[in-house]
Amino acid sequence: MVYEATASAPVNIAVIKYWGKRDTKLILPTNSSLSVTLDQDHLRSTTTSRADASFAKDRLWLNGEEEAIKEGGRLHTCIKELRAWRLEEESKQDSLPKIGDLKLHIASYNNFPTAAGLASSASGLAALVASLAALYELPQSRSELSRIARQGSGSACRSLFGGFVAWREGHAKDGSDSLAEEVAPREHWPDLQALICVVSDAKKGTSSTSGMQATVETSPLLQERLRVVPQRMVDISTAIEARDFDEFGRITMADSNQFHAVCLDTAPPIFYLNDTSRAIIALVQELNRASEANGNGLVAAYTFDAGPNAVLYAPAANMPVVIAAVNKYFPQANAFADPFQMGTTATLPAG
Ligand code: PMV
Repeated sequence: MVYEATASAPVNIAVIKYWGKRDTKLILPTNSSLSVTLDQDHLRSTTTSRADASFAKDRLWLNGEEEAIKEGGRLHTCIKELRAWRLEEESKQDSLPKIGDLKLHIASYNNFPTAAGLASSASGLAALVASLAALYELPQSRSELSRIARQGSGSACRSLFGGFVAWREGHAKDGSDSLAEEVAPREHWPDLQALICVVSDAKKGTSSTSGMQATVETSPLLQERLRVVPQRMVDISTAIEARDFDEFGRITMADSNQFHAVCLDTAPPIFYLNDTSRAIIALVQELNRASEANGNGLVAAYTFDAGPNAVLYAPAANMPVVIAAVNKYFPQANAFADPFQMGTTATLPAG
């Protein structure tokens, strides 16, 4: 009997950013965050987990390269907690095969550049948790599983859901209420599309883990951010509910700008945006200014994570204009290897 399960999880892109931990071990955030899960075939992690009596120890491969599972590390924590749930089920139901005690081999693939500000850790850890949950046939809900994924990589908790997803910061000291939940399914707003502009697929200079810790320790501006984010969470949820792109876009850009301002306010400063990123911001601003001058709404909204790559959100009807503008002003975009050409439309998830 082979005990094996495969699961795949997509990348999510935050529109209200998570940046800062109040508990670094449990990965409890300093603020709630909200993201859109992208449903695009070439932005996914796929993980296969196998339990077998012949395995001598737990092992994990990422894109074919073995990664150490360090005792007490994040991967170790996720595996340990899911295994404990399985063992609990086995103790309750005699008929269940005893696989909780077997060692695991786990193989994970990202079909996009790892650690390039494209949230590879989010989809990677979410796929790992989903594959183990499937292997162990766990009865826990996605939100409950998100508590485990959160301990692998904070933003991973949001990739367990499709559509529009909130990670509620929670207040419990043990992290029991710091979990992800669906704000709206993808079908609620099918007209919203995302365009990924890969400015660089190089590994980022400052990891999100060390960057956000430095911000928490040194940035006075972070306090202001923590003051305004709760209202933004409410407002953007209302905008999603009403499918109000103007409001959604304004909040998204304001939050991205503030996140990067907080990075700059960190000592020493962290720069994730580069000249191309700033040129993309200027382009989106110009498209929006011209549209508003004609009495129309926003054309597109940008957001940037811990790297120079832009994600542009826009209603489907505006996407051709956005893609044409990006291709016109960034002709070098065509030089980027497929499938990461600028101008690639990332279609959003089905659910
Ligand atoms: O989950 P991490 O440690 O990879 O942090 C992700 C942080 C941002 O991508 C910058 C923001 C977010 O909410 O996804």
